[in-house]
Amino acid sequence: MRFLLLNGPNLNLLGTREPSIYGSETLEEIENHTQALLGKAGITLECFQSNAEHELINKIHQAKQDSVDYILFNPAAYTHTSIALRDALIAVEIPFTEIHLSDPKSREEFRHRSFFSDIAVEVVSGLGANSYYTAVEHAVKTIKEQNT
Ligand code: DQA
Repeated sequence: MRFLLLNGPNLNLLGTREPSIYGSETLEEIENHTQALLGKAGITLECFQSNAEHELINKIHQAKQDSVDYILFNPAAYTHTSIALRDALIAVEIPFTEIHLSDPKSREEFRHRSFFSDIAVEVVSGLGANSYYTAVEHAVKTIKEQNT
């Protein structure tokens, strides 16, 4: 079983980026903890972060070639703008969870629209780094239920 953790623009700055909104954990800490949780469930994890839309699209295409079973995705600001990333996820037909550290729905109005929520298996937001860990827990349960 293989999972992909995909993070969009500016999330490489976690730890120092607006900590009052996004918390103090670095992306590396989040990736390591996610890896540990999935490892316990016998699932392999690849992590990828990019500030470039086309690199995220290419990684989603690659995930199909690599037979990735599930994508954990924080599209960051692309949440609110990217039809291209939405189309890529639909094209590869890999189930995914949309993740946010903050709760975009309780922030500026331009963050209220998501191009992903209606096609995601689940949306987990507003829990800081725990959004990732909760998403992992639920995704593992979903995938295991599907395979029994
Ligand atoms: C975010 C929320 C987005 O609105 C924002 O552009 C981000 C991070 C979050 O994790 O809370 O970069 O996806």
